[in-house]
Amino acid sequence: MKTLLHMNDVHAYYGAAHILQGLSLRVDEGERVALIGRNGVGKTTTVNTLMGIARLGAGEIRIGDALIRKPLAYTPAQHQIAIVPQGRRIIANLTIEENLVLGSASRHPGPWNLAEVYRLFPILQERAHTPGTALSGGQQQMLAIGRALMANPRLMILDEPTEGLAPVIVDHLADTLNRVTSQGTAILLIEQNLGLVARTTSRYYAAEKGRITASGTVAPTNLNELHNHIAV
Ligand SMILES: Nc1ncnc2c1ncn2[C@@H]1O[C@H](COP(=O)(O)OP(=O)(O)OP(=O)(O)O)[C@@H](O)[C@H]1O
Ligand SMILES: [Mg+2]
Repeated sequence: MKTLLHMNDVHAYYGAAHILQGLSLRVDEGERVALIGRNGVGKTTTVNTLMGIARLGAGEIRIGDALIRKPLAYTPAQHQIAIVPQGRRIIANLTIEENLVLGSASRHPGPWNLAEVYRLFPILQERAHTPGTALSGGQQQMLAIGRALMANPRLMILDEPTEGLAPVIVDHLADTLNRVTSQGTAILLIEQNLGLVARTTSRYYAAEKGRITASGTVAPTNLNELHNHIAV
């Protein structure tokens, strides 16, 4: 199995603040992996390090065969990793369709295009020419995922996509992620919602204080174990 993303003993900083303290994880082709952990343990910083927002101080990041010495904002996109950021970051003065087309800037060949994204999320087509911010929270999350898919990523990283969503929307999100992974796209799902983790991933890493302190398979029999890494 080909490794898509490998972070090995990564240390990362915001200014002098040492946030990631030896974090290691890997995601292989087509895998469905969760990264769980309480607030402030460094989950978003893991993503930010891949984009050069947090500074990589030591350790190794490999994306596919490439060794990434100095990650930059477009590094993940260049290597077919699409990121659905925490808080969604819909561009307010663009329409839904313009937001989607923006996602295809780093487009690679593959199954996803505007028609397929509209098939996945019909509501986005109905509202194609309205501003992205006119959508509800759940619809904005669909837009953020649709925009990521437009690039035909090999790996999609989602940072707490259920934040602020109603349970019924979370159900829809689970179905969506399962459809995406059934097309062969790998996911790294950053979440505290174990219901979504259980339904969409098969392996997990748990982070604490900037490093991985536990990992294993996601199965109905060990959800309690996962819960210990999230509950206070
Ligand atoms: N720009 C920044 N400058 C300095 N410290 C920061 C910055 N952003 C985050 N931090 C700190 O880094 C640590 C890790 O934050 P991070 O956002 O990675 O946590 P998280 O696991 O994503 O949490 P959450 O579940 O709340 O999103 C926290 O202590 C946070 O206060
Ligand atoms: Mg976060």
